[in-house]
Amino acid sequence: MKLVRVFLLLLCFYLSFCKPTLTSDTSQEEDLVEAKCLAKKYTHLSCNKVFCQPWQKCVEGTCVCKLPYQCPKNGTAVCATNGRSYPTYCQLKSLECLHPGTKFLNNGICKAEGKFSVSLYGNTNSEGIVEVKLVDQDTKMFICESSWSWTCKVLIILPSRFIYSISRGALDIQRRFTFPEETYLNSTECLHVHCRGYETSLAECTFTKRRAKGYQGLAGVVCYTENAELPTDESFQCVNGKYISQTKACDGVNDCGDQSDELCCKGCRGDSFLCKSGVCIPSQYKCNGEVDCITGDDEVNCEGFAPATQEETEILTADMNAERKRIKSLLPKLSCGVKNSVHARRKRVVGGRPAHHVEDFPWQVGIKEADGISCGGIYIGGCWILTAAHCVRVSKTHRYQIWTSLLDWIRPNREIKVELANRIIIHEKYNASTYQNDIALIEMKGYPNPKVCKLPKSTPACVPWSPYLFQPNDRCIVSGWGRGKDKQKVFSLKWGEVNLIGNCSKFYPNRFYEKEMQCAGTADGSIDACKGDSGGPLVCTDANNVTYVWGVVSWGENCGKPEFPGVYTKVANYFDWISYHVGRSLISQYNI
Ligand code: ARG
Repeated sequence: MKLVRVFLLLLCFYLSFCKPTLTSDTSQEEDLVEAKCLAKKYTHLSCNKVFCQPWQKCVEGTCVCKLPYQCPKNGTAVCATNGRSYPTYCQLKSLECLHPGTKFLNNGICKAEGKFSVSLYGNTNSEGIVEVKLVDQDTKMFICESSWSWTCKVLIILPSRFIYSISRGALDIQRRFTFPEETYLNSTECLHVHCRGYETSLAECTFTKRRAKGYQGLAGVVCYTENAELPTDESFQCVNGKYISQTKACDGVNDCGDQSDELCCKGCRGDSFLCKSGVCIPSQYKCNGEVDCITGDDEVNCEGFAPATQEETEILTADMNAERKRIKSLLPKLSCGVKNSVHARRKRVVGGRPAHHVEDFPWQVGIKEADGISCGGIYIGGCWILTAAHCVRVSKTHRYQIWTSLLDWIRPNREIKVELANRIIIHEKYNASTYQNDIALIEMKGYPNPKVCKLPKSTPACVPWSPYLFQPNDRCIVSGWGRGKDKQKVFSLKWGEVNLIGNCSKFYPNRFYEKEMQCAGTADGSIDACKGDSGGPLVCTDANNVTYVWGVVSWGENCGKPEFPGVYTKVANYFDWISYHVGRSLISQYNI
């Protein structure tokens, strides 16, 4: 018998001496997390912050289980712990999501002798060295310390019988474990395990074997018990109630087990990447070919970015993470927010420049009532136009014309297509005196076939599903046929670049509603929407060049005055309202 130190739960990144800590000053450490955001209690199921898994869908900000039939049909059979086979991995995961208990066992059909087991070789019931028996292997094997990531540690408590609290993860403390006798195993051989974070059983992680020279630490685990870690001044409270050290929040590692320590970050420490949405992800996820940030910024500027090379040898289990990615690629995709042709914008709303090509504003529409364009609107797909509630009246439905592909309404361009309004839906909480919920939908009739809208020159703008897709200081574009400088009349479409502005209550005390409205403008106020632009788009383009309708022109004190920015209806706040009326599949980017 020999004693070997296994600093298991203490991976290198937990050790302060080998971790590039940003600062040791706690007051500065705290600065990385954003208190206002923490109050919203985001977790790995909050689709305002993260993507749902392919077997889930996002409903009102939360990832909920899909029904198995909503999964893509193709895939290969998988076997579950209840001894039954399921047609696809997605179907099993959706069933597991609905009825936790049945878990993944192996890829392929169920075999009589197929068994996966995890046990702890060691000191007590609640801690020890991790020992596994894979489905296709006869003997039990240990896991190498070096490959034992936090994600896998959280998992160990699920399949083992040493469960204290399923959702709370393991406790990270330094322990000495009794190392098994040498005859028991060849100490140079251990299993490497890769987990991604969505797994509910260690069997879903990928196991590889690699011969290493000399001694490798073995992975051990100490289960988390209710009273094991008491809160201190320096601890961070996870949404699931667990306490972790403040220094582990915003380090890209899911220490809480529910990811709540990584979702409200102003910066990231250690080896992690800050998504524009305020989420820290492990650096290995940057440029790995899969979009992890909802803002898409982890997969841009990847040329010359060298991913960490893996020198794995023998793969012992199926790569279910690759299968998850394949399922994701089979989900229906929306075509929105991408222009057909991009013209170099020629340098030349109040202070705006004229639009020269309809292709540059394929989502812009004009709402014509009696004489002239009275308001703008935004095409969002199908027969649907988004506009401001104050622009339309249900009683006047038959009087509105929707002009698409329009540039100048005095000298009409040949691409113009005119549609009639069929139905108008005004937000039920629209308040004409405060301009709250100033949003409405117009359903076009369709021509020549009713209910089918063919608009060859139009492209829908994407509807944002999360208020974290764009942030203050992002540059966006407002466009419309509204009044220009000195209130002069405008007949041709104009556009201008404005910045999103945060803390707008300081400009409009008691009139600005943070959740429902968005301010935008320029420092000198020179660019702004004005009378007649209402209902029109404020669009923002993400890191991958996809354009979203971020705002609907709503109100503002005068036009183009510094200190009085334009106020827009914040479309992200109305995603569920819009999807309820137009149908989820028309605007849901991910996981309908
Ligand atoms: N309510 C105005 C309209 O009916 C839009 C005003 C926008 N004003 C501004 N300064 N951004 O057209």
